[in-house]
Amino acid sequence: MEAEEERFPTLRQVLLLFVLLAQTCAEREAYSVAEETESGSFVANLAKDIGLEVRELSWRRARVIFNNNKKHFQLNLQTGDLQVNEKLDREELCGPTEPCELQFQVLLEEPLEVYKFKLLVSDINDNPPVFPEAEMILKIMENTLPGAVFPLKNAQDLDIGINNVQNYTIFPNSHFHVLTRNGSEGRKYPVLVLDKALDREEQPELRLTLLAVDGGAPPKSGTARVLIDVLDVNDNAPEFAQPLYRAQILENSPLGSLVVTVSARDPDTGINGEVFYSFFYGDEEITRTFALNELTGEMKIIRKLDFEKIVSYEVDIKASDGAGLSGKCTVIIQVVDINDNTPALTVASLTSSIQENSPETTIALFSVRDPDSGENGRTVCSIQEDVPFMLKPSVENFYKLVTEGPLDRERQAEYNITITVTDMGTPRLKTQHNITVLVSDVNDNAPAFTQTSYTLFIPENNSPALHIGSVSATDRDAGANAQVTYSLLPPQDPSLPLDSLVSINADNGHLFALRALDFEALQAFEFLVGATDRGTPALSSQALVRVQVLDANDNAPFVLYPLQNGSAPCTELVPRAAEPGYLVSKVVAVDSDSGQNAWLSYQLLKATEPGLFSVWAHNGEVRTARLLSERDAAKHRLLLLVKDNGEPPLSASVTLHVLLVDGFSQPYLPLPEVAAAEAQTDPLTVYLVVALASVSSLFLFSVLGFIAVRLCRRGTASWVGGCSVPEGHFPGHLVDVSGTGTLSQSYQYEVCLKGGSGTSEFTFLKSVASNHQGSVNGVEKNSHFGNGFGFN
Ligand SMILES: *[C@@H]1O[C@H](CO)[C@@H](O)[C@H](O)[C@H]1NC(C)=O
Ligand SMILES: *[C@@H]1O[C@H](CO)[C@@H](O)[C@H](O)[C@H]1NC(C)=O
Ligand SMILES: *[C@@H]1O[C@H](CO)[C@@H](O)[C@H](O)[C@H]1NC(C)=O
Ligand SMILES: *[C@@H]1O[C@H](CO)[C@@H](O)[C@H](O)[C@H]1NC(C)=O
Ligand SMILES: *[C@@H]1O[C@H](CO)[C@@H](O)[C@H](O)[C@H]1NC(C)=O
Repeated sequence: MEAEEERFPTLRQVLLLFVLLAQTCAEREAYSVAEETESGSFVANLAKDIGLEVRELSWRRARVIFNNNKKHFQLNLQTGDLQVNEKLDREELCGPTEPCELQFQVLLEEPLEVYKFKLLVSDINDNPPVFPEAEMILKIMENTLPGAVFPLKNAQDLDIGINNVQNYTIFPNSHFHVLTRNGSEGRKYPVLVLDKALDREEQPELRLTLLAVDGGAPPKSGTARVLIDVLDVNDNAPEFAQPLYRAQILENSPLGSLVVTVSARDPDTGINGEVFYSFFYGDEEITRTFALNELTGEMKIIRKLDFEKIVSYEVDIKASDGAGLSGKCTVIIQVVDINDNTPALTVASLTSSIQENSPETTIALFSVRDPDSGENGRTVCSIQEDVPFMLKPSVENFYKLVTEGPLDRERQAEYNITITVTDMGTPRLKTQHNITVLVSDVNDNAPAFTQTSYTLFIPENNSPALHIGSVSATDRDAGANAQVTYSLLPPQDPSLPLDSLVSINADNGHLFALRALDFEALQAFEFLVGATDRGTPALSSQALVRVQVLDANDNAPFVLYPLQNGSAPCTELVPRAAEPGYLVSKVVAVDSDSGQNAWLSYQLLKATEPGLFSVWAHNGEVRTARLLSERDAAKHRLLLLVKDNGEPPLSASVTLHVLLVDGFSQPYLPLPEVAAAEAQTDPLTVYLVVALASVSSLFLFSVLGFIAVRLCRRGTASWVGGCSVPEGHFPGHLVDVSGTGTLSQSYQYEVCLKGGSGTSEFTFLKSVASNHQGSVNGVEKNSHFGNGFGFN
């Protein structure tokens, strides 16, 4: 009531009027007008409704009074119409109140009358639904089951009734739909219903549009954005990019080398998506060899790999997220071989000493091993080329070192064999093993003399036990097989008294003469010496030793003719008519010695008549030196000296008697006794010799004549004495033919032709070799033809 008084200052008056006119003021029917009607629009004809004349209205000063003192309407006094004065807004006038009534009175004066009216303002759909917030944020766990409902804020519409919000829809409605729920006072609420499970990993947030539609015609709508945040749930286990990783790594890779990087993905977020790596099994071998970075998944080496021990590793790796889900993968690590092992050689058996001459023998059996694989582990064995050994592959990786054939200790007694084992890897690695093989001795070499024959020269008359020389033999074997003993072998000639001549030192081969040797008795002899080693069986060899006795001048010349012991000394007859150079006689002497010691020279030592005779030094011929005269004495005695050429010289003297005779004719010259005796003993031989000599001398004559002619032309005919031929002189003297005893037991003949007389004189000399062993000077068993010229 107070409020009304305030609003209406003239309320007392009005109230009084109301009371007075209470009965008269009957309730009138309500008018209706739609909101937002244009001003001036007709609402109702009040005059007619009150029952007044139009002119009465102005006369009675009718006026319209609204309760709220607003001038929404005005009364047209000319027509009595109630007209809209200004636009009405139902929402402003009544808000949500329904129905929206405006009460007004029509006041008339004189008499005062009040008529009450009601005016209904009807709603038109002039307001759209409006959401209080343009964006709504909703957080929904991704694992929320379909069917779950989420209330949403409703939209507001100032309009009422059907013009208010009637329906909500949402789009895009892939996961949700919206239910519209009835609320109090006819309000409608949207409810979000999950149709399909959410997956944060697929769509972490959804942007939807909520549409509110009112029921007006045409309907108005309002929208709001709905942002749906899908909350993560640890619904994903970490997953490795590959279930199986393969890696290869060199066995010599340094520590810290990366082997492989595994990687797992967890689509969850936050702690749910954080991945930690670890070894699946706590295998000690693996954890000591590899380190795994739990955050990056890098796997590195922390211990040296050895292909030879472990060829490959299989490692299981687990990836866990923060909430405990995990995944697994397998890493297969192949260790790649590096040629890091030198080949190893193991000797299984070894014979360090073998006998020479053995056939193919196994020296060593050894095995070769290289722990590397492939080419790195393939080995090649060799030994040096220059040894007579070879390698033979045996079973598997065993080799035999064998001799190529029999060995010869004497050639090489020790072999150093280097076995080289090389693998085929890169770089090549090799190992060497040295084996020393000793070749033991077998008595396969006989002692060998330094010379096949030895010639020793011993002067005769040596002192007994004289060391006359040595023989020496060597044996290439070793030890007892090389110890040599010497011995004398039985002589081939059984008559040689070897045991009394020489002896040998068994140890050193020195030879000794056992007694004095006599050249004239034994000029030379030979024998065999043996050398024997001490091997089993013993081997021996032999050598020839020739002993040559050297002559010493120990024999004086011995005169054969003329005989010196004669009770009837030999006398040479010389005719007084003899030409100078007439051959008086010839002294024949021998010397048992040989060589120089037997070279004789003759000289006239003493003569009754010096100058009458001369002796030719070389052949002992005594010739007249000049013409003889009657004054010369008939008897001459010549003393001749025969001297050898030894050192010192030995000599013998000869006495020769010469008788000068008158009328001495040569054909009657008596032959010497000896020659006559010889001739008598075998006249046939003499004749044969004479015949042969005649023929030979004829031939010889012609040859000599030819030579003489040539010599004479050169003017060398200064020879005095000796045999001569009419055509000239023959140089000639008796050549020493005594040699090494070849003339012993032999005869020599000298035939001397007297030149001037044309007759021949034969002098036969019976050999005295049986008495005087040695050469007979100037006498040859074969015929000698020519004047002093000896043919051998
Ligand atoms: C709300 O709107 C949807 C589509 O616009 C319609 O299918 C549904 O029938 C409406 N609901 C009501 C109660 O009018
Ligand atoms: C909401 O109210 C309308 C009428 O106002 C009615 O037809 C409908 O069935 C109601 N819906 C629910 C869910 O109560
Ligand atoms: C073998 O080797 C040894 C020791 O190294 C050495 O004394 C010897 O002379 C060598 N022998 C040969 C035949 O090389
Ligand atoms: C083997 O012998 C060779 C030469 O004979 C030598 O160079 C090498 O050092 C030796 N090896 C061994 C392991 O003794
Ligand atoms: C002289 O000697 C020789 C030999 O010696 C001998 O044959 C001869 O009988 C001896 N004559 C005399 C007479 O003694």
